[in-house]
Amino acid sequence: MTPPAVETTTDASRIQTLFNRIAPVYDRLNDWLSVGQHRIWKLMTVKWSQASSGDTCLDLCCGSGDLAQLLGERVGKTGQVFGVDFSCAQLEIARQRGENHYPPLSLHWIEADALHLPFADNFFDAATMGYGLRNVTDIPLSLRELHRVLKPGATAAILDFHRPNNPTLNAIQQWILQTIVVPVATANGLQDEYAYILPSLEKFPQGPEQIRLAKQAGFAQATHYPISGGIMGVLVVTKRLS
Ligand SMILES: C[S@@+](CC[C@H](N)C(=O)[O-])C[C@H]1O[C@@H](n2cnc3c(N)ncnc32)[C@H](O)[C@@H]1O
Repeated sequence: MTPPAVETTTDASRIQTLFNRIAPVYDRLNDWLSVGQHRIWKLMTVKWSQASSGDTCLDLCCGSGDLAQLLGERVGKTGQVFGVDFSCAQLEIARQRGENHYPPLSLHWIEADALHLPFADNFFDAATMGYGLRNVTDIPLSLRELHRVLKPGATAAILDFHRPNNPTLNAIQQWILQTIVVPVATANGLQDEYAYILPSLEKFPQGPEQIRLAKQAGFAQATHYPISGGIMGVLVVTKRLS
């Protein structure tokens, strides 16, 4: 049975409220909690999106805009990047970050729902998404929307947490989340906001399931690359050349 629409709306607004609330400390916590590693994972994601100079690109669930900015640096002054998020507080930080960049980049910040993108079909040359897929309320719909707005032959790279296959690494990941991430977040007054990572990760599809969902959404190719021992992963998807 299809769940009532109101439930989805409530879930979405809870997520929106959560990301609005953590916006002021989000970048700082990301740096502390990943020991700066998220910057490297994001650079890898940009590279795997195959974006190149002059491209028009999308960064879905852009949050405070760091990944969109990296994408902007890659496409250069002849390209442009559209960062999409439904959290106005995160977008405000993204906007300020973009304004302070030298040389200036062509970055556009769009407040919109990743499940109903305000773009024409076949619009983007490449796309990225960082820690967004785990947060949308409907992963298959989000992948279908991403597929719709990409040009034929275009690639998207989707970075997110992943559960390592190795039981020791899996236990270490759980230990880090429970004994470092949540206490650090609690010290910043954000316990509830960060306690959600572990349950969301438990529900999040593993690499092979992500590949299946991407193919079901229409992508011709889908590969999942576990990184950093499988605690993170990048799903790389390519739309069929028509
Ligand atoms: C964990 S943050 C990731 C931010 C950034 N991409 C990064 O890598 O740090 C997830 C973002 O997804 C956004 N988000 C979740 N569901 C969304 C949806 N349906 N439409 C647009 N944005 C969404 C949230 O507002 C939040 O900013």
